[in-house]
Amino acid sequence: MTAGINCRTLVKSFGDPPTEVLRGISFTVERGEFVAITGRSGSGKSTLLYVTSGLDDPTSGEVYISGKNVHRMDSSALHDFRNGHVGFVFQFHYLLPELTSLENILMPARKFKREKDKRRKALHFLHEFELDHCINKFPSQMSGGEQQRVAIARSLIMEPDFLFADEPTGNLDSINGERVLGIFEDINRNHGTTILLVTHEMDFAARAGRQIHLIDGMITSDVKKEAGRKKR
Ligand SMILES: Nc1ncnc2c1ncn2[C@@H]1O[C@H](COP(=O)(O)OP(=O)(O)OP(=O)(O)O)[C@@H](O)[C@H]1O
Ligand SMILES: [Mg+2]
Repeated sequence: MTAGINCRTLVKSFGDPPTEVLRGISFTVERGEFVAITGRSGSGKSTLLYVTSGLDDPTSGEVYISGKNVHRMDSSALHDFRNGHVGFVFQFHYLLPELTSLENILMPARKFKREKDKRRKALHFLHEFELDHCINKFPSQMSGGEQQRVAIARSLIMEPDFLFADEPTGNLDSINGERVLGIFEDINRNHGTTILLVTHEMDFAARAGRQIHLIDGMITSDVKKEAGRKKR
């Protein structure tokens, strides 16, 4: 399987003496899947997302994305891969305070010197995400929901094949949460973007095509909606 994401026996330990936070996690995500990752606080969801996306290294195990071993790439290849093919939405948006929303959205494009040709797309996102009135605003001048939508637009500007989102609706009200989930459903459906979404909102998780549940760093259930049966 080369097209999607393949995690093999991921172990991640922290501390001394080491505590295993991911305890041998293996799963495969096909290209175009929308996967919700659920589990209690501390079960390892964020750690799994960081390790799978290449933002953090596993203690042992491997991750292949589109057939490439993410943790074996040299740092410049990993950098280009992450910026060009992977979008990441953090629970807290990490917008740059000194940049306007439009400039923040264009940040990943700037790294590839593609600001000019991505500008139209950025304006399109601002419109689609109901942010027209925020184009020239700085993060401090926007509401939390507006900032989160800017962060999502930023994660999508390079049209990533893979989107990792860590509780993107966690600090939003229900209207904004719904709006964000709608954006994800749309890009999954219409652009085929593969999505791994960490969420504690069960009705959002239920709308994903597949739900992976973690308990204490292990996958305890992995259910696909279409098949309606347990895979493991
Ligand atoms: N850098 C770190 N150093 C030490 N321990 C860590 C580190 N990062 C995470 N942990 C521990 O690993 C465990 C899993 O953390 P993780 O952030 O993955 O949980 P989570 O499922 O995302 O929880 P939440 O729902 O609260 O966000 C926790 O017990 C946490 O304390
Ligand atoms: Mg977390």
